[in-house]
Amino acid sequence: MSFPIDRPRRLRRSVTLRNMVRENILTVNDLVQPLFVVPGKGIRKEIGSLPGQYHLSVDEAVKEARRIHNLGIPAIILFGIPTFKDPKGNSAWDPDGGVQSATHAIKQACPDLLVMTDVCMCEYTDHGHCGVLKGETVANDLTLKLLAKTAISHAVAGADIVAPSDMMDGRVGAIREALDEVGYHFVSILSYAVKYSSAYYGPFREAAESTPQFGDRNGYQMDPGNVQEALREAEMDLDEGADMIMVKPGVPYLDVLTKVKEKFGRVTAVYQVSGEYAMIEAAAEKGWIDRKRIILETLLSFKRAGADFILTYHATEVAEWLKQN
Ligand code: PBG
Ligand code: ZN
Repeated sequence: MSFPIDRPRRLRRSVTLRNMVRENILTVNDLVQPLFVVPGKGIRKEIGSLPGQYHLSVDEAVKEARRIHNLGIPAIILFGIPTFKDPKGNSAWDPDGGVQSATHAIKQACPDLLVMTDVCMCEYTDHGHCGVLKGETVANDLTLKLLAKTAISHAVAGADIVAPSDMMDGRVGAIREALDEVGYHFVSILSYAVKYSSAYYGPFREAAESTPQFGDRNGYQMDPGNVQEALREAEMDLDEGADMIMVKPGVPYLDVLTKVKEKFGRVTAVYQVSGEYAMIEAAAEKGWIDRKRIILETLLSFKRAGADFILTYHATEVAEWLKQN
């Protein structure tokens, strides 16, 4: 049937009607807030490349976690900046490291807030790559052991979900096996299954001090031209025991998100990364866009594309907006 019998505008006539027939909505349950933990005490320092985001010492991270939990946000994801970096990234599995201490303290303060931890080596290696080097390449199988060790240290500290972001082959299986071996079968894995080698991570690398000191990440992160490979990455991680998979970055890869969700029908997350955040903030500061509307429209696009939840630096602020409505 078509015009003049069919008139789609009939269902757009009022706010109430539009609210009633809307297909996708954003709720506070969709949001995950990333936090950056630094050594020290009483530190809450704005990150230059991510205005509105902060480097937090453990005590301040606990305060922030309380606020996040009170807003009804279900989860945070923790990144750590260590005091000490070396070629192997030994600080990554330090039981007293920032991520481990913050995880422990936050679970103590807010047991119901889910703590996810980013599992990778690049914040801990002095060369800034996501694993140990053999010559100038990242040695895949040697790195697996270190990732497993790191994931266990997070689980022991109380992490609910570990999220490997390194893009080594076989890491989900290695982490699953290691966790099960020590009795942490209840800790789930959110795999950064489809992580592209992206310029959109720039501001994060400044925030996490994890810029590679030579070369780039093209030898392990995915080529932006590939989509069949994305499906294969997702399939492999699910076969290895990933409970949830993630596509990253967000807006530039919405097509990939939809395909992954449609093909596997599994819990699928999306990461609206630092560069996406920075672009919105910069344009808003210039007065060129309606910041609030752009943020909400962008987050809704992830839901429409098939995301079950969204890692976004806007989570806390958006939760405040959703509460006001
Ligand atoms: C660590 C990691 C990165 C991000 C999440 N985990 C950076 C990278 O791979 O270079 C990016 C997050 C963002 O840009 O917001 N491997
Ligand atoms: Zn990394």
